[in-house]
Amino acid sequence: MLFADIVGSTEQIAELDAEQAMDRLGPALALMCESIEIFSGTVVRTMGDGVMALFGAPKALEGHALLACEAAFHMQRAFQGDGLGFRIRVGMHSGQVASDPQQADGRGGGAHGLTIHLASRVVGLAEPGGICVTESCYALLRSSCDVRFLGKHLLKGISGHTGIYALMELKAATTNRLTQQGSLTPFLGRADEMEVLKQALRLTERGQARAVGISGEPGAGKSRLCHEFIQWCSSHSIPVFEVRAQPYGHAMPLQPGLSLLRTFFFRIPPTDDAAAARARIAARLTELGTPADADLALLYDFLGVAEADSVLLPGLNPKLRHARLLSLVRELVKHDAATTCVILIEDLHWLDEASEEFVATLVEAAAGTQTMVVLNFRPSYRLPWAQFDNFQKVELDQLSSSEIEHLVRSLIGPRQELHEICRLVVQRSGGNPFFAEELVRSLADGGFLAEGADLRAEALEAIERSLPPTVQAVIGARLDRLGEPEKTLLQMCAIIGKEIPLAVLEHMASPLASVIEKGLDGLCHAELILPQPAVGGRRFAFRHPLIQEVAYSTQLKVRRGPLHCAVALAMEVYYRDQLDEYAALIAYHYESAGQPVDAAHHSSRAAQWVGSTNAALAIKHWHKVRALLHGQARSSRADSLRVRAGGQIAVLGWREGLVLQEVQPFIDEAMALAGEVDNRLIQLLLMVEGRMLQASGGPADGYVERLLKALALMPVGADLGRAATLNAALSQAYAWAGLLPQALAANDIALRDMEKIDRLDREFIGFSIEHWVMGMRGRLLTRLGRLEEAEQCLKELLVLGQSSNDPVILQFAHFGHVDLAWCRKDPALALAHSTRVAEIAEKHEGPYLRVFALSCLALAASIGGDFETAQRTFSQALILVRNAKVAMEFETEILASLAECHRGLGRFEQALDVAREAITLSRQRCTRLPECRALITCAAAMLDTHGLASAVEARALFAEAEGLVRMTGASIYEELLAREQFRLTEPAGEPQGVNFIVGQAA
Ligand SMILES: Nc1ncnc2c1ncn2[C@@H]1O[C@H](COP(=O)(O)OP(=O)(O)OP(=O)(O)O)[C@@H](O)[C@H]1O
Ligand SMILES: [Mg+2]
Repeated sequence: MLFADIVGSTEQIAELDAEQAMDRLGPALALMCESIEIFSGTVVRTMGDGVMALFGAPKALEGHALLACEAAFHMQRAFQGDGLGFRIRVGMHSGQVASDPQQADGRGGGAHGLTIHLASRVVGLAEPGGICVTESCYALLRSSCDVRFLGKHLLKGISGHTGIYALMELKAATTNRLTQQGSLTPFLGRADEMEVLKQALRLTERGQARAVGISGEPGAGKSRLCHEFIQWCSSHSIPVFEVRAQPYGHAMPLQPGLSLLRTFFFRIPPTDDAAAARARIAARLTELGTPADADLALLYDFLGVAEADSVLLPGLNPKLRHARLLSLVRELVKHDAATTCVILIEDLHWLDEASEEFVATLVEAAAGTQTMVVLNFRPSYRLPWAQFDNFQKVELDQLSSSEIEHLVRSLIGPRQELHEICRLVVQRSGGNPFFAEELVRSLADGGFLAEGADLRAEALEAIERSLPPTVQAVIGARLDRLGEPEKTLLQMCAIIGKEIPLAVLEHMASPLASVIEKGLDGLCHAELILPQPAVGGRRFAFRHPLIQEVAYSTQLKVRRGPLHCAVALAMEVYYRDQLDEYAALIAYHYESAGQPVDAAHHSSRAAQWVGSTNAALAIKHWHKVRALLHGQARSSRADSLRVRAGGQIAVLGWREGLVLQEVQPFIDEAMALAGEVDNRLIQLLLMVEGRMLQASGGPADGYVERLLKALALMPVGADLGRAATLNAALSQAYAWAGLLPQALAANDIALRDMEKIDRLDREFIGFSIEHWVMGMRGRLLTRLGRLEEAEQCLKELLVLGQSSNDPVILQFAHFGHVDLAWCRKDPALALAHSTRVAEIAEKHEGPYLRVFALSCLALAASIGGDFETAQRTFSQALILVRNAKVAMEFETEILASLAECHRGLGRFEQALDVAREAITLSRQRCTRLPECRALITCAAAMLDTHGLASAVEARALFAEAEGLVRMTGASIYEELLAREQFRLTEPAGEPQGVNFIVGQAA
């Protein structure tokens, strides 16, 4: 029974006449009625400034108290933003009512009794904007709501005191099914396991948090043990957070990870809207210190609560975004080190890889805190964190015969004549409590437990023979006995999954519309499914995962296909506002329906979605797209998916450290198809191929060539945005090739038309094109000797960089300053910026950034004349490049710098060797600037060793270097070259002291 009324309505309408009053109050009453109807309640009566409604009568309704509660919250939310200026109170009570549906029409009558009287009193106890319930109502909501006890109250006209609770919020839909079951069998045995958990909790309370993993066969009692433990925790006021993986976990990556973030880390109740969720996230992050805007944006985006018009994150690449998320998780867990709480994660055997990383991070970070993690999984699950010191595993054996007997007795009662039946069940169950329970249910269904059933010896033998041999079989037998429409509905439910949104089921079962309620009631009554607490529509869940598994696997595949298709279609409608998140699940249903192209389409959507946080996972999805389309007929839809898949595997693969050989087949295939599909795609693929070619040690000219080809594919003046993208890359390619004026010209074009670059290109590039172009520009200007302009450009970039959390971008500006410092021979400037580069690399990890950092530190050391440190640090960078095969585009520069360091240290032989290596490699890779520097070092080292005896050779090398300076436009090397060349004109052939400054590293 629910009562709602408007606070202080009398004062608010005191001045108005009856008609005006109704004009004001009418819309408010309508809002209240709407909430009630959404949650299947019946408005019994409206009363001027309030309403009275019934849930669960006259229409029998599963989970009526919960629905009433959802209606109450819905109503309160509606009044928060209604603009009517009213506040309301809601009161609820549960009990018997005599109702007369015929009169339940708002004209009075309809429901009578004490229940109504009590409910009408409770409403007065609620605060404005609040909801109050009596203890009997709370008993039905215990597992679904958070409450505050308001004490016992004496209510007018009611004898005795009544306990009153204020409802605070609805818990997430993940609430343990066990708590809703109401009638649990007594908890038996498991004393040792319980003790392990309690002991772990004691350690946790002392700041030595444990993670306990419970492993056991299906139905062995993992969830029950966890349930008992968390009940115990709750009774000791220790907060518990629950998350579970779903059977379609692999199709729905990240769900448990997301829900962990929502429930545990940010305590976002499902009733929160996006703005409220953002406020909670910001408040929580503030506990760690002033949150970076970029971190907030990252979390808002990841949790799907970003502001509608928020701009794309300034390019943090997926790998780094993912790493940042995990490190935020780590920081948050560590931050909360001083409050004891328990996180329960159920059914890890269904956990997807991406969430697995979240969970692993959580377990690892929890060490040394007061956050205990409890996990459970079937033995098939391979545990990835067994190595963590704070982790321990508990294996659940079967229960003993006497325990199972106790369990069975608690279900069938003490009747003596059932002794033999009890023995049969105990024996057959093999100690599996779920099996035992299901056997009892099955016997009850078959009428064998009824008074007067035939239990003579022969009959018992027949019963024994008919007892199913496995837990799956016993469930199967129960399902076989279901009538219609229950059976069909249950099969549909099993296809939908363990959780069943009613709206999806209704969509699938439209021919059964008239009997759906009755069917669901039947299934709930048989305890095969149970109603769930939920926000935004009714939903159900299978009472036990095994029931869903059996109901699914016992359907013929041919029959499942069309049902999967129906689920996919229904979900497209139902999840229309969260399509990205559910795309993989929808894809799974299409695939199971035998519709691979539709499945591929949705997989590509899922890939795109996860691609922003997890490149490795995105690559998996793209491979899935390809696999789905394998052997499918060519069509423009299929081909364009194939092209995107191939192209994305190549792009993301590059970031994940794949080399060209590994992705070349995908590029080739995509390129072959793209021609027929989309010329624009070829351009992007050419760009990727060129970039990867170069990153994996190919010639820079090859990169240039591919970009020129891509540019040639479009008519001049058309598609300025795309031309800007390609020119940005071309600027990079020319810069690597050392052709500076050309690089600057391309950079000019990119800069000019940057704003026209579209979203597709931005996503394809994956990081901020603005920062990239400016960063390259700063370095180009430096090398061209236009130092004032370079400085200006780099300054701007530093300012821009503050809005980005992409470490590569952050490094860019500092990096450029180190170059500049070299030209200015300014060791202090070099040191300041190289230190920043190193800090950034430290914070974000990853070999690529580390190569940058080492190169900058080495360069700064050499500018300061510390060749010992410089040489050592450049060598480290070189080893890293060669071992990790990252940043190979830097290899020749590092070699050229290293040669210079050797020379600076007077190790002329080594200088010669390394310089020669640098020259050879530079020629292969067309990196003309390092080649030029290595030529100078080579010639100089010869003169150092042999004096003018090597003049001829040295002169030839200098001439080559001079040619390169002219060709590349690298005027900054002119001075160095002139100084070294000058030695050829000196009369004495004595080896010279070191009178140069080492060149640039990167
Ligand atoms: N120690 C116990 N005492 C009484 N009943 C139990 C016990 N353990 C489990 N049960 C009952 O057995 C049934 C199955 O238990 P539970 O759901 O915990 O299995 P599970 O191991 O989690 O299975 P799954 O791997 O399928 O999730 C439940 O109804 C539960 O109440
Ligand atoms: Mg379980």
